[in-house]
Amino acid sequence: MTLHPHHSDSPTLANLGAAFADEAASHVKYLHFATLCREQGDEETARLFEETAKQELKHALAHVELLYPRSQLTPQHVLEMAIEGEAHEYSTMYPSFRDAALAEGEALAAAGTDSRQDESDTRSEDFRKLLALAAKRFAALTGVERRHCEHYRAALAATNSTTDK
Ligand SMILES: [Fe+2]
Ligand SMILES: [Fe+2]
Repeated sequence: MTLHPHHSDSPTLANLGAAFADEAASHVKYLHFATLCREQGDEETARLFEETAKQELKHALAHVELLYPRSQLTPQHVLEMAIEGEAHEYSTMYPSFRDAALAEGEALAAAGTDSRQDESDTRSEDFRKLLALAAKRFAALTGVERRHCEHYRAALAATNSTTDK
């Protein structure tokens, strides 16, 4: 399924995609910041982040409306696109991210033997933990995204068999 087939090289479509990713990320990031502020006793800043997060979600939804026009799309179309996205995540993205995180951790461990200062030791130890955690999470998400993909495939098959009748 190709959206906007005659304008696939449009800079504005690319900008909409980038703006959508940025607004969606801001929404999640601000929710995280709100939790962090609340945990540290700053309720006012927490509320400011939550209020802004709501607006960022609206901005993301407005962009996604233009990127995925309702008038052109059916449940089959959106399931096909979702399957493509999930398949990319579990077959390519997360496995390669996991390998890269493990390789980065190994390189850091090998380089760490000649570090001198205590503070930089602690920091690189913290960063090695982050890399190990990221590798573990990427591996776990490979399985989760595969299941998402299977659910979407089953839904698409069900939708198609209903349509065929
Ligand atoms: Fe925004
Ligand atoms: Fe997913």
